[in-house]
Amino acid sequence: MKFLVINGPNLNLLGRREPDIYGGETYARLEELIRDTCLREGVEVEVFQSNHEGAIVDRIQQALDAVDGIVINPAAYTHTSVAILDALKAVAIPAVEVHLSDVRSREAFRQVSYPGMACVRTFMGLGFEGYRQAILFLKDYLAQRGGGACSTVSW
Ligand code: DQA
Repeated sequence: MKFLVINGPNLNLLGRREPDIYGGETYARLEELIRDTCLREGVEVEVFQSNHEGAIVDRIQQALDAVDGIVINPAAYTHTSVAILDALKAVAIPAVEVHLSDVRSREAFRQVSYPGMACVRTFMGLGFEGYRQAILFLKDYLAQRGGGACSTVSW
């Protein structure tokens, strides 16, 4: 089983970026946690971070026939990107959305998630732990569904 974990804009600045909201741990530490979790679960993983919407769309397209599941924190593109939503729908690879913060309790402009509409589940407000839970959930989901097509849900 192979997963692609995608992190969107400004997540590379974790540790320095608004630590009151996103915590004091670095992006390197997050990558380590993702890799350790996948190793423990016997899942192969690629981790990708970009500040560019088109690069994220390209990476999702490259996952076609190459990856069993996607974990994605689209960061600010969560609230704007129909392109990322369409890319996830186009490849139809089961995807799980993650947010470090509890987006629902934040500003009005954060109350919509376009990519989330193509994800089978969203984990939010759990910090780094949300990624661990997303990986475990996706592994179970794929085992049960036999890698079936992505359903459409929203939060
Ligand atoms: C975020 C929440 C988004 O609203 C924000 O733009 C981010 C990070 C999170 O992980 O909590 O960049 O996706």
